Amino acid sequence: MPRHTLLVHAHPRTDSLTAQVTDLLHARLKDGGSTVDVLDLYAEGFDPVLRPADEPDWENREKSYSPEVHAHMDRILAADDIVVVFPVWWMAPPAVLKGWIDRVWNYGFAYGRSKPRLGGKRMLWLALMGNTEAEIEQLGLSAVLDLQLRVAVSRFCGIEDSSVAIVHGTELSGVPRALRPQRVRELLKSAEESLNGALPR
Ligand SMILES: Cc1cc2nc3c(=O)[nH]c(=O)nc-3n(C[C@H](O)[C@H](O)[C@H](O)COP(=O)(O)O)c2cc1C
Repeated sequence: MPRHTLLVHAHPRTDSLTAQVTDLLHARLKDGGSTVDVLDLYAEGFDPVLRPADEPDWENREKSYSPEVHAHMDRILAADDIVVVFPVWWMAPPAVLKGWIDRVWNYGFAYGRSKPRLGGKRMLWLALMGNTEAEIEQLGLSAVLDLQLRVAVSRFCGIEDSSVAIVHGTELSGVPRALRPQRVRELLKSAEESLNGALPR
């Protein structure tokens, strides 16, 4: 039985480095025999703003949320693996991705049950950031994404097999134009290498 992957992409531009990494991963997942559901949050026009219909009711974990949210929950439930590719903005996921978590990873679905519904899944958060690893370390921010995503989201929702991989130094503005294609190739290689030990395998 082939594995099924939900591949979530959160970048506004189709020619971005993030989009290229998503394409690379998509091809690699398919080569590995997985079926892939690509969720391009911008292209699908996902609304990240949590409104009352999707606000948790702490007294009712069986609450019916909006139809849009239930459709997204079905896509998560159908997946064996969840891979999320995004640029780091202010040391956090972009608002569209944060809103997908706020609205869809909701009470009674992703958490709040003695037996977590998402428990058996595997998850990879693949983040691209402008800063180098040394800069992030100097700022004391090395653990931020791991704590925010692997611990506070995946593990909190019962997904123990989860990791955060980071591609550092994506900022091309300081790189002479003629050297940028080479730099992009290096960054894509670094994205592939960061997958070692994580999904897909
Ligand atoms: C609004 C905004 C906030 C950003 N914040 C950070 C940050 O906190 N740390 C960092 O290293 N890079 C930051 N960056 C740089 C992005 O991570 C970088 O542009 C991205 O990884 C490049 O990939 P792309 O070409 O796919 O956009 C920020 C970029 C934007 C647009």
